[in-house]
Amino acid sequence: MNTDSRSQTLPQVEAAIWDELARAVGDKAHAWRTPVLATAAPDGADARTVVLREALQPEARLLVYTDTRAAKVHEIAACPAGMLVFWSSALGWQLRCKVTLSVEDSGLEVSSRWARVKLTPGAQDYVSPLPPGAPLAAVPEVQRASREYFGVIGIRVDSLDWLELRPQGQRRARFDAEGARWLQP
Ligand SMILES: Cc1cc2nc3c(=O)[nH]c(=O)nc-3n(C[C@H](O)[C@H](O)[C@H](O)COP(=O)(O)O)c2cc1C
Repeated sequence: MNTDSRSQTLPQVEAAIWDELARAVGDKAHAWRTPVLATAAPDGADARTVVLREALQPEARLLVYTDTRAAKVHEIAACPAGMLVFWSSALGWQLRCKVTLSVEDSGLEVSSRWARVKLTPGAQDYVSPLPPGAPLAAVPEVQRASREYFGVIGIRVDSLDWLELRPQGQRRARFDAEGARWLQP
């Protein structure tokens, strides 16, 4: 939900942000469904597009799926701090989230989601014989590994930096452990 009201309060803005995150999970056309996740890599920074799978507002927690052999999984193990960046031209909203990342490859959180994913065409993303990024001698053939490498990246949102671009002016706000405040855009 976007609103034209310039008198919107900070709690209303924060609630609207979480509404959009929840909407993005279920709407393949929503631009916020595919944010960019940035992590620290051994040689600097790394970033890639991911699909937002769940948005749990009470815990300020987001979920993304991954092949557990992917580079990002090793990067998260070495440094759990990351950034998740969303942009929607329809909303005119950029959202930059400072996040703490963790990867689960077993347990109920993983098995319950894999039980659903494995029935879909998307399951092939987690069953390739070679890890993501492995060099190939030729154009790949579709092959299936003897097991799956499905994992869940848990994303704790530590702070939200929201920027709204509007013809009538920009607005920016931050939401974190220190509270909510307006910022100069
Ligand atoms: C639209 C789009 C959505 C993607 N979603 C995911 C995803 O949800 N999880 C994932 O691990 N990779 C996803 N990828 C692939 C990643 O961007 C990346 O290429 C891959 O995960 C390897 O990244 P890494 O080597 O940094 O781990 C997606 C790519 C695109 C273009």
